[in-house]
Amino acid sequence: MGPIPLCVLLPVTVLVVMVAVAAEEKMVDDEYTWPQWKVPLVRKRRTVPLSSPQFSAHSQSELSGTCGIKCQSRLPSPSLDDLEQFLSYETVYENGTRTYTSVSVQGLNEVPSWSGNTSARSRHKREVYGPDTRFTISDKQFSTKYPFSTSVKLSTGCSGVLVSPKHVLTAAHCIHDGKDYLDGAQKLRVGILKEKSRRGKGGKGRGGRGKAKRRKGDNNKDEVEEKEEGDGKAERKGKGKGKKRRSRRSAESEKPSFKWTRVKKTEIPKGWFKGVSDGLAADYDYAVLELKKAPKVKHMDLGFIPSVKKLPAGRIHFSGFDDDRPGTLVYRFCSVSEESSDLLYQYCDAKPGSSGSGVYIRLKEPGKKKWKRKIIGVFSGHQWVDVNGDGMQQDYNVAVRITPTKYAQICYWVHGDSSECQVA
Ligand SMILES: *[C@@H]1O[C@H](CO)[C@@H](O)[C@H](O)[C@H]1NC(C)=O
Ligand SMILES: *[C@@H]1O[C@H](CO)[C@@H](O)[C@H](O)[C@H]1NC(C)=O
Repeated sequence: MGPIPLCVLLPVTVLVVMVAVAAEEKMVDDEYTWPQWKVPLVRKRRTVPLSSPQFSAHSQSELSGTCGIKCQSRLPSPSLDDLEQFLSYETVYENGTRTYTSVSVQGLNEVPSWSGNTSARSRHKREVYGPDTRFTISDKQFSTKYPFSTSVKLSTGCSGVLVSPKHVLTAAHCIHDGKDYLDGAQKLRVGILKEKSRRGKGGKGRGGRGKAKRRKGDNNKDEVEEKEEGDGKAERKGKGKGKKRRSRRSAESEKPSFKWTRVKKTEIPKGWFKGVSDGLAADYDYAVLELKKAPKVKHMDLGFIPSVKKLPAGRIHFSGFDDDRPGTLVYRFCSVSEESSDLLYQYCDAKPGSSGSGVYIRLKEPGKKKWKRKIIGVFSGHQWVDVNGDGMQQDYNVAVRITPTKYAQICYWVHGDSSECQVA
């Protein structure tokens, strides 16, 4: 799908939204609400200095070594000792200093376990992977607005997502190949899409007659939600300025520019490192970067959901900077095909460059009518997976799930205090 400014799609889809929303109200509310989970405590045990890394690795675009769905389900769940080893982590500072921190994990038994039942049929099954179903968010009015604005670009070529005012969640392979840090990770920077500093930013919304090509039968509400949100307002504001806006659009659709910020430190779980977790390294393909300066951009919270497939609206979304559309933000959504406790397998269209994007869903906040997006995974990339354990390989796009323990660990990296990380 070519670049389509979202505002063009807006009027076409308002009706669909209204119908979808009405239908949704009738359904069981609980199914659409973020559950509250007690998460384990991940605590620092000891930090020891290590020699500075070599920064000798080169990035690779194809990932391999995923054990697969059946294979994973046969593995014993890691012992507490193993888990503590996988969640121990390396920190690398801007000045090249490196440390190793061992952690303890407490309260694991109180954590909800994944049901492990993947035979449950998804109610919204849909096959993609044929035509390219990604959307280029070329209009700055959208790409610099939430939720798209939480997407960042890494100087190593990957994507990431803001999970605090100054922390970025990304994929571990974007900075480390399992043996060493990437050459580009030494002076790592993060790019945030810049809003044009032009006056009269009020011109938003719905000019333009729809050349918007959409796939038949795919007027589904999820993609519409992206337009809907935040832009009901925009639409009203923009009333009566249609002409002016239209003439401006060409300028606004220029390639976006980034504001680059240095990374102060990076954290990677040991589970990602070669020889630590064996077949499970893919489960630990995530990392957190702390920025030197907090960009003034809203971030997205993390969340945990035991099964995405069983959610009535079990569709995931992510946006990142795919290689084949240089410099532009690309958004997509799809349903999850398979899931394990630690991975989501799906056929969202994605190219290298989108690795590290935050995978999110939208549910209601407990006790409120308001919807809230939360990041439930990190997009890892394209992988060959042994699905049935019979050696037959199938390719999927894979995302690492935020489990309760990973939630606790990432939260600890972000807050530096595990007492702030007790409920997901
Ligand atoms: C590098 O930075 C870290 C964190 O700011 C600091 O603790 C460490 O002492 C520094 N090392 C050197 C050699 O400057
Ligand atoms: C898995 O889900 C299916 C369909 O919901 C159900 O029939 C089956 O009993 C479940 N199996 C287990 C082991 O929970």
